[in-house]
Amino acid sequence: MATITRVGFIGAGRMATALAKGLSTGFTSPDHMIASDVLSAACESIAAETWIRTTESNAEVCAESDVVILAVKPQYLREVVTGIASHLQSRHLLVSIAAGITIADIQACLDTERRVIRVMPNTPCLVGTGAAGFALGGNATPDDAELVKRMLATVGIAFQVPERLLDAVTGLSGSGPAYVYQFIEALSDGGVRVGLPRDIATKLAAQTVMGAAQMVLETGEHPGALKDAVTSPGGTTIAGIHELERGAFRATTMNAVEAATRRSMELGS
Ligand SMILES: NC(=O)c1ccc[n+]([C@@H]2O[C@H](COP(=O)([O-])OP(=O)(O)OC[C@H]3O[C@@H](n4cnc5c(N)ncnc54)[C@H](OP(=O)(O)O)[C@@H]3O)[C@@H](O)[C@H]2O)c1
Repeated sequence: MATITRVGFIGAGRMATALAKGLSTGFTSPDHMIASDVLSAACESIAAETWIRTTESNAEVCAESDVVILAVKPQYLREVVTGIASHLQSRHLLVSIAAGITIADIQACLDTERRVIRVMPNTPCLVGTGAAGFALGGNATPDDAELVKRMLATVGIAFQVPERLLDAVTGLSGSGPAYVYQFIEALSDGGVRVGLPRDIATKLAAQTVMGAAQMVLETGEHPGALKDAVTSPGGTTIAGIHELERGAFRATTMNAVEAATRRSMELGS
């Protein structure tokens, strides 16, 4: 019978909750997961949302799990890793989701070489449509890579990349949901401006973004080709696209990804 992987979370906030919810839909079960947090409110909320066990002891999370997911803010990560170093054994795989903190930074807080994988997920993993990149530390094995790929596959899609590209993943898909929420809000505002009730405008906007994204993922067609396919000469769509171009929509979006990538690098340095 296949062994069920025991997963532990240090830090029981938004991302831990999103991942725990996703992982309990196919990778493992709530009774094989545990989370710790300095805030009892965070423990109560993740327990209520995901049915997993909670504790205020990071050491207990290590004792009760094989995969330890480090889900605290980047500024607390080194102190957390230093604090659990003596509680780790060779069976442990450390998975960090902290923006900007490198595998070398994590290894530097440990007294022994450990198997470490760095993942940049995003919050839509809460609804099973996450997008993530991950990189392997020198001691992580191909089996570890497979395991993390299977974990992330239960909450969306994931790509293995060289670690030097994880800041770029952060700038695109890690922070990307916030860009898209702004785009959805702007589409909705546009709809209200031309007379649509707010709730209809917001639902139409969100469904349009989701539908367009699904078209790209399912057809594999270039987004530009899909755009041209719905842009008739002198029609409505080209009028809208012209306004986007006038507002430097594409350059601004590219700049947003670059700025977030740079910030991720700064956070790591
Ligand atoms: N949110 C995103 O969209 C996103 C996307 C990709 C990656 N990430 C990464 O995911 C990580 C978690 O982000 P998040 O949004 O889930 O943050 P969050 O909601 O603030 O959750 C982190 C939790 O860890 C707790 N914590 C702090 N120090 C701790 C310690 N020593 N031991 C145990 N728990 C401790 C925090 O308590 P306090 O509030 O008291 O500090 C908080 O409850 C970050 O490193 C972030 O870079 C986030």
